[in-house]
Amino acid sequence: MGASEDWYEWHRPYDEPGSPLAARLAVVQRHITDWLDSRPGELLTCVSACAGQGRDLIGVLERRDDARRVRARLLETDPRNVAVAEAHIARAGLTGVEVLRADAGDLASYAGAIPADLLLFAGVLGNVTDADARTSVTAFRSLCATRGTVIWTRTRQPPDLTPAVRGWLADEGFEELTFEAPPNATFSVGVHRLTVPPRPLTVGRMFTFVR
Ligand SMILES: C[S@@+](CC[C@H](N)C(=O)[O-])C[C@H]1O[C@@H](n2cnc3c(N)ncnc32)[C@H](O)[C@@H]1O
Repeated sequence: MGASEDWYEWHRPYDEPGSPLAARLAVVQRHITDWLDSRPGELLTCVSACAGQGRDLIGVLERRDDARRVRARLLETDPRNVAVAEAHIARAGLTGVEVLRADAGDLASYAGAIPADLLLFAGVLGNVTDADARTSVTAFRSLCATRGTVIWTRTRQPPDLTPAVRGWLADEGFEELTFEAPPNATFSVGVHRLTVPPRPLTVGRMFTFVR
């Protein structure tokens, strides 16, 4: 992948049954479902950074009759992916879900949408420098609500940053609910919950895509 990656085309393997990306999506969607089921009846907020076409969250909510209790903001820069997500949201009648064509690396893009009961960080940490990954994990504590959950993904291709990411999350007061690293794939999915008080949101950048 390069900084010139075509992020619309990147989504194509989602439509290939058995592809690693389709497998990863199934894991992320299962954890979104578990999160919803763990908080029955509550009004919940969600933010998805670098949401792409939003297949994870939209794909879950469109199948649920309690989708209206979720208010969500998807942040995505590629206009084609924004259009796909918006069309999918409209088809599914998800009135509480918005897509902003905005820079998810800029903390200002989260104003009005946080604190998040669920922060989705799928397909981000593998596309930024290690330093930006660390900065992002620090910022999670400002983006999440009390007891907020983060679902994140990261390739484990060498050099595998996931041990460091998990350590940083622990340092920031997140407990690990699960970390899935299928032996037959290189992706991994982590689910962490904030156990300490959130920090006030600051201004500035979390990350810039480099891959
Ligand atoms: C690897 S894809 C992941 C998409 C989605 N989260 C998923 O897992 O299906 C990364 C996405 O981030 C978007 N992106 C890249 N830099 C961004 C930024 N600074 N702010 C928002 N979106 C960005 C790309 O257009 C692309 O759709």
